[in-house]
Amino acid sequence: MALDEKEAAKRVTQLRAEIEEHNRRYYEEAAPTISDREYDALYRELSDLEKRFPKLAAADSPTQRVGEKALKAFAQITHRVPMLSLDNTYSEEEVTDFYRRLERLLPNKKIPVVIEPKVDGVAVSLLYEKGELRYAATRGDGTVGDDITQNIRTIRAVPKQLKGDVPDVLEVRGEAYLDKGGFAKLNAERREAGLPEFANPRNAAAGSLKQLDPAIAAKRPLGVVFYGTGLIEGVTLEKHSDLFALLKNLGLPGSERWWRADSVEEILRAIHELDRIRPDFAYQTDGAVVKVDAFAQREVLGFTAKSPRWAIAFKYEAERVETQLLDILVQVGRTGTLTPVAALEPVVVSGSTVSRATLHNEEEIERKDIRIGDRVLIEKAGEVIPAVVSVRTDLRTGREKKFRMPKHCPECGSAVVKDEGQVAVRCVNSRCPAQVRRRIEHFASRGAMDIEGLGEAVVNQLVQQKLLADVGDIYALKAPVLLELERMGEKSVNNLLEGIERGKARPLWRLLFGLGILHVGVSAARALADHFPNLDALMKGSVEELQQIPDVGEVVGRSIHDFFREPHNLAVIEKLRKAGLRFAAEPKAEGAAPGFKNTTWVITGTLSQSRDEIAELIRARGGKVSGSVSKKTSYVLAGEEAGSKLEKAKKLGVRVIDENEFRKMMG
Ligand code: IVH
Repeated sequence: MALDEKEAAKRVTQLRAEIEEHNRRYYEEAAPTISDREYDALYRELSDLEKRFPKLAAADSPTQRVGEKALKAFAQITHRVPMLSLDNTYSEEEVTDFYRRLERLLPNKKIPVVIEPKVDGVAVSLLYEKGELRYAATRGDGTVGDDITQNIRTIRAVPKQLKGDVPDVLEVRGEAYLDKGGFAKLNAERREAGLPEFANPRNAAAGSLKQLDPAIAAKRPLGVVFYGTGLIEGVTLEKHSDLFALLKNLGLPGSERWWRADSVEEILRAIHELDRIRPDFAYQTDGAVVKVDAFAQREVLGFTAKSPRWAIAFKYEAERVETQLLDILVQVGRTGTLTPVAALEPVVVSGSTVSRATLHNEEEIERKDIRIGDRVLIEKAGEVIPAVVSVRTDLRTGREKKFRMPKHCPECGSAVVKDEGQVAVRCVNSRCPAQVRRRIEHFASRGAMDIEGLGEAVVNQLVQQKLLADVGDIYALKAPVLLELERMGEKSVNNLLEGIERGKARPLWRLLFGLGILHVGVSAARALADHFPNLDALMKGSVEELQQIPDVGEVVGRSIHDFFREPHNLAVIEKLRKAGLRFAAEPKAEGAAPGFKNTTWVITGTLSQSRDEIAELIRARGGKVSGSVSKKTSYVLAGEEAGSKLEKAKKLGVRVIDENEFRKMMG
């Protein structure tokens, strides 16, 4: 379709908004809703339009950025050498073109390349000085990333001290991953605890590395594969293939298999062989990376704005399976968004049985022309979330039915609306039972108020029995009515009530996130709690004041403003106030508690609050929290049944304090 410039401008705006939203879901929530392939298609469409209509190019376009924004909760690290990304392709033809281009740029030269697995994880950069691990960072925007040193230190395969002949400075780059078994186990645990599952191992790894509490990261079976360097002093490498031996000598984990090639045929052969053997790797791979071996040749080839000309990533197709689309169901989400879901004839895809798949929205269904009764092709996005990729229109019988988004909410019957400029359709009845259930589940979820025992099954029953109409009602629940519920014995009722009570002390940002204000994610909630002294001040904030806050902006500011003008929401807030929830923001780090400044803490044993909560108290006062005891630890806060960490603290002479003393220090 040939677009004129006006149409192209419209499409570009739309694509940028869509890509930003997917970036946010991917990087901030670690919960993508589309496959990599679909994302790449949107990205490519945008980048093609920007090339065709140079007037439409913009410095703040997602095509001009590498990866994510750094999260605010972490300290920031500026990379000594920028961390770039790679051009991706799914086509062997483009791999061929890549090598032909190399031949043009380096005429009459042999151009040896290395092919190695593309590990599906999170890019990290570690800096070693004289062999000692100084820090570790995420890629961030390529220039500045998050300081994730404490979390990286919990990875057993990462040496704190390098072996052998150590270079003066070595910045090593690689991919941190969660292995396949660990991923399955983690999701099984989350399912049981009523927590949302991670979409794929990469998101699980990202989620783990972005844990503010290293103790949580330490529980996840993370590994790293190193595949490159940044700044390097005191040793000279002439080619990439020398890196494998260097890594090995220093005790750093590298790629378990790699190939050399100096022709297109050999490259493709290596790519195919890797595809055959990669199911046996412990970690997930999604492609092969082809890199020019000699650094001198790399230098001649140079870089584009985002990626080197000397490397390309070839991505493997996900496994596709055909099945029957039995029906299209409509689910109502927390904010009322209606999402069509495919009900499928069960079929095995990439090792597990699939009977549901996301269809995103009505436009998507129209674009792919999906009809009820169709034979459809299914694939797992990132090998985990199933999605309908396309339809076998050649197999149509004529009996297939077109899907229409209902004009009324399937749960409560109210009319649905479509917000301007948005694709999603919403049920705007804030009392819709589906929304009520989802809002309460969200409020109680681990990422928000973290109320143990208040999972999906319990919430369903409580809403159905009209015991909960909003999150304010949670605090009025009493044992006798709870004991009437299905599968709720005395023990689970006590646990739930305790969970509710403990949850009252959560910091303000969790409450703000938990309220489920449209567009307010974790980072906006944190920014709001940083800006205002308490909830009442925030509630009075004007749209102008709100949009000055980082991570807020106009749309979000208006949404917050409107939320606190809605009488129903105000009534809920009053219930929460009465229940004694914390409305005051955490004290600011500066000068709040001088005893905490520049101190490093390790929390161990059973305490009266969860470790997450205590870690937050420490951080809010300017202290750091670490997962392991070393000579640099300032305090070990030991609760009951503290074990090996307490031992180690005693051995190293680190100061150990109990909770009483800790509370005194906090004032
Ligand atoms: S080389 C200058 N090698 O894939 C580019 N990257 O899609 C350096 N990745 O940003 C990257 N395995 O996060 C390289 N063997 C490998 C890789 C690899 C995974 C990641 C990396 C990169 C992304 C590009």
